[in-house]
Amino acid sequence: MFRQIDGEGASDTDAAELREIALGFRRLLMTYRFGLDEMMTKVTILREEFRHIHDYTPIEHIGSRMKSFESILAKANRRGIPLRPDAVRDSLTDIAGVRITCSFVTDIYRMRDLLIGQRDVTLLQEKDYIAEPKANGYKSLHLILSVPVYLSDRIEQVVVEVQLRTIAMDFWASLEHKIYYKYDREIPPHLTAALAAAATEAATLDATMQRIHSEVQELARDGDAAGAAGSGGSDAPVRAGAPIIATIVEPPSDLGHRTVAL
Ligand code: GTP
Ligand code: MG
Repeated sequence: MFRQIDGEGASDTDAAELREIALGFRRLLMTYRFGLDEMMTKVTILREEFRHIHDYTPIEHIGSRMKSFESILAKANRRGIPLRPDAVRDSLTDIAGVRITCSFVTDIYRMRDLLIGQRDVTLLQEKDYIAEPKANGYKSLHLILSVPVYLSDRIEQVVVEVQLRTIAMDFWASLEHKIYYKYDREIPPHLTAALAAAATEAATLDATMQRIHSEVQELARDGDAAGAAGSGGSDAPVRAGAPIIATIVEPPSDLGHRTVAL
């Protein structure tokens, strides 16, 4: 028990209240970490399944992060949100974040549909900065999703922000982010213009890569169809040396899961 010392500092009641708030925040952050793990599992399953069954992965990289307690308090303060766990939970949607880097723009929307199509995933908000890029050139698809977390005495719906981008969009966003902070949020005009031009080039690259990819896929489909017709069977031909059993038992690799400890 904290003691009030010579009339200054926290009273017993204040201290008890503070302890209650601190405990509430610890519980809240733990629940968000569980929600993040649930979402990571979902994304990882989709990635691995694609890799093994479809012999192709629409996901290049998966990253995750928990907002630090300091950043949560700073953001709540900035937005005038009371520093209480329930108020923070009701107001901030980016405490748990997952970033999915895809190879092609079509993969972004495919992953989106697969995620929000899951029965226990609820789409709370969607911001499509690919269809409508920000003025600076920023592109990504942002989803605010909720997933259930089964605790010992209740089920909590946990909100997770999922950002989906291509490699080119991610490359652009990380450079812009560095510049933004380097210049303390005031990017000099010539760099703003250079970034806008780079965003256009990144979008052109995405479109070109997508076109090549689609063409190759079509060729592969035509090849498969011709092969199936030639062999007289309806099953897709098994590639020589394809380790069917091995791929099923192979452990997941390089999941890129990076949850920042609090
Ligand atoms: P925040 O308060 O930053 O969360 O913004 P918001 O609530 O308006 O949400 P928004 O969906 O616009 O942005 C959320 C996140 O997307 C940011 O925290 C960044 O990770 C990313 N983001 C948004 N805009 C930009 C941008 O212009 N440049 C970069 N590099 N990242 C951005
Ligand atoms: Mg944010």
